[in-house]
Amino acid sequence: MNEIDQAAELLRRGGLVGFPTETVYGLGADARNSSAIKKIFAVKGRPSTNPLIVHVSGVAMAKLYSARWPHQARVLAQNFWPGPLTLVLPKTKEIVPEATAGLDTVALRMPDHPIAIELIRKFDGPIAAPSANRSTHVSPTTAEHVRREFGSDVELIIDGGPCRVGIESTVLDLTTTTPRILRPGDITREQIETFIGAIEMNTIVTHSSSPAPSPGQHEIHYAPRTPAFRFERAQRDRISGDDVGMLIIGDTTSPSERTISLANDPAAYAHDLYAALRQLDDLNLRAIYVQSPPETPEWAAVWDRLRRATRPLP
Ligand code: TXA
Ligand code: MG
Repeated sequence: MNEIDQAAELLRRGGLVGFPTETVYGLGADARNSSAIKKIFAVKGRPSTNPLIVHVSGVAMAKLYSARWPHQARVLAQNFWPGPLTLVLPKTKEIVPEATAGLDTVALRMPDHPIAIELIRKFDGPIAAPSANRSTHVSPTTAEHVRREFGSDVELIIDGGPCRVGIESTVLDLTTTTPRILRPGDITREQIETFIGAIEMNTIVTHSSSPAPSPGQHEIHYAPRTPAFRFERAQRDRISGDDVGMLIIGDTTSPSERTISLANDPAAYAHDLYAALRQLDDLNLRAIYVQSPPETPEWAAVWDRLRRATRPLP
């Protein structure tokens, strides 16, 4: 029996499986099995009020678990699936309430990764999978990241190499009169609007204690353990010390173990962001300083993550 067959069998028995997608690694369980879903929340330390994304093998399976499949869903799935776009729709009763935090909607996506697709097909059912990290910590983009998050708490982790995209999918709510982006990602507002016209964008919720329209919107999320601050290029001279780390952009002139330069391009930057934050976090420094990227629409998804991972320089 190969690893994917084994994983499908584990899911059938109500177990958890770490698996790769094109965005980040997921921690999967059967979306129709309450006790399996509860294990995800327990292992992650995730608040039960934060709903999970349910992964499907295509439109046919998505229709089995959504009570409505509106025109926008048809057009968007046709153009962006498989891929990093999650659609929130009314759910059917097969999806257990634990998976959706009691909401009557479900977030569905078809991942663009051969291992993920083969796993869903072999399992022949919907796989609920949040990012495979402890709650509020940095998401994993390699199998090694997942192993280090969970150790033996997760029986099987399938290694599919580093993730192509590197940050989580765009989440689009299709249950409101005007569709709304709940979480920006690799698929941009502009790309979506090309196909379904004007949509809205959620703004960040600033207090983690207040209820959020989409719970992943809470401010502290995706964060390293080390205190992390963001700074403007002009503030760079204020940062010094051999006990601090820096994440800068498009400047390879002074690389060191503690200074990582990421590409001055949103997709390439997103691809490497989480691995870089983890690398700096592992050095047990006093602080990590992250250079702010440009405030332009192409950087919206990266900005969303950085706003939650860092605080402004005091
Ligand atoms: O790229 C991704 O989406 C990754 C990979 C593994 O597919 N998954 C992921 O899952 O990021 P997670 O659990 O870390 O993020 C799920 C977020 C929630 O925090 C929430 O914002 C939104 O998706 N969400 C899920 N179900 C929802 C619902 N019914 N209504 C509104 N938002 C929902
Ligand atoms: Mg997550």
